[in-house]
Amino acid sequence: MDTKGIKLVTIGGGSSYTPEFVEGIIKRYNELPVKELWLVDIEDGKEKLDIVGNLARRMVKKANIPMEVHLTLDRETALQNADFVTTQIRVGLLDSRIKDERIPIKHGMIGQETNGAGGLFKALRTIPVLMEIAEDMQKLCPNAWLINFTNPAGIVTEALVKYSKHKKVVGVCNVPINMKITIADLLGVPEEKVQIEFAGLNHMSYGTDVFVDGGSKLAEVIELLAKPENQLSMNNIAPLPWEEEFIKALHMIPSPYHRYYYKTKEILANEQNEYQEGKTRAETVKELESKLFELYKDPDLNIKPPQLAERGGAYYSNVACNLISSIYNNTGDIQTLNVVNNGAISSLPDNTVVEVNCTVTNKGPIPLAVGALPSPINGLIQQIKSFELAAIEAAVTGSYEKALLALCINPLITDDGKAKVILDELLEAHKEYLPQFQ
Ligand code: G6P
Repeated sequence: MDTKGIKLVTIGGGSSYTPEFVEGIIKRYNELPVKELWLVDIEDGKEKLDIVGNLARRMVKKANIPMEVHLTLDRETALQNADFVTTQIRVGLLDSRIKDERIPIKHGMIGQETNGAGGLFKALRTIPVLMEIAEDMQKLCPNAWLINFTNPAGIVTEALVKYSKHKKVVGVCNVPINMKITIADLLGVPEEKVQIEFAGLNHMSYGTDVFVDGGSKLAEVIELLAKPENQLSMNNIAPLPWEEEFIKALHMIPSPYHRYYYKTKEILANEQNEYQEGKTRAETVKELESKLFELYKDPDLNIKPPQLAERGGAYYSNVACNLISSIYNNTGDIQTLNVVNNGAISSLPDNTVVEVNCTVTNKGPIPLAVGALPSPINGLIQQIKSFELAAIEAAVTGSYEKALLALCINPLITDDGKAKVILDELLEAHKEYLPQFQ
């Protein structure tokens, strides 16, 4: 890896997020000399791949670094001897996300990309494709790290580490870094000084403590976060304020995604309005994407346009690039990642994937011990983990019963009869992407 320069492959390279990733690689070129960046996509994504790829080439030219940008639809050629592979795919494209969001809302349940029924179906469509990618990697680049961004990131990562031969897999998400940036800002200290202890699962992890220069600042942070104007949200989640008393009683930092669980009715009411107006998040993103691609086409554009910040995935590039750089440079720094538990959270099985702080070395991330989950959050996390386990089994076996069970376990699906109706409708709507259920 050192002598030939790094070969980095991004599957789903035609994504509108790619310019942010390319910017991150360029910024770190001195510590992370990527010689070849391969952007890979499928036939349906060819047009986008060309547009994004040409922008990436202009960005690299402006930066004046010797990095080759390859664009291809041939995944096998791209994966040959890769060092790192990132995955950011959306099976069924945004039209499938629209169905994941609209169908549950129609039946009075939350419709969301990674939570509830939408999250289950994204997992069912995605896991078989990611399994194929991991299989290819095992043949073509067995030593490469697979860094998975594809949602639902925790579930997909767990399916891979359990069922694929390729075990060098890490799941990443931008929520922890967004929480860290907000809290650093509230405390008025640089981000690098803040360390949040995370415990839980992807889109279901809590900040259980906050350290600045080794001392806990949790009490101060809770006082600050209790005020509605200080609360963290993300572009893709309605910024409904938490009750001050709830934050103080919890005495931990919830993630923006916890609104789906503690504010279910309000969020649903919001979603029902968006549904009526044809403006679910997926529909809004579809509109935003076409504007972004129009901008990307401009032959004079050679930077990431600021409009990209309207997507929910802000800072995702920092997460991916920091991880790759720390593995490559064996830095031993601490990052929040989705990895095999291996005892870090004593109240969850060892072989399950959790979102916790890890020390990152050239052997990969090593999770730091958290201990048992505090009782106020243990119940919900355990319930979501049970949902995830059923979802993974459904995805790999194509079992209708497991899929139904997953929905009925999920706290956002509050009725077994409705669960069946939603399941049947989503199975039908997505059937071309669910071969395992045929
Ligand atoms: C957040 C989540 C990501 C998710 C994104 C959606 O950043 O952490 O997992 O992909 O939001 O953003 P979008 O702009 O697609 O709604």
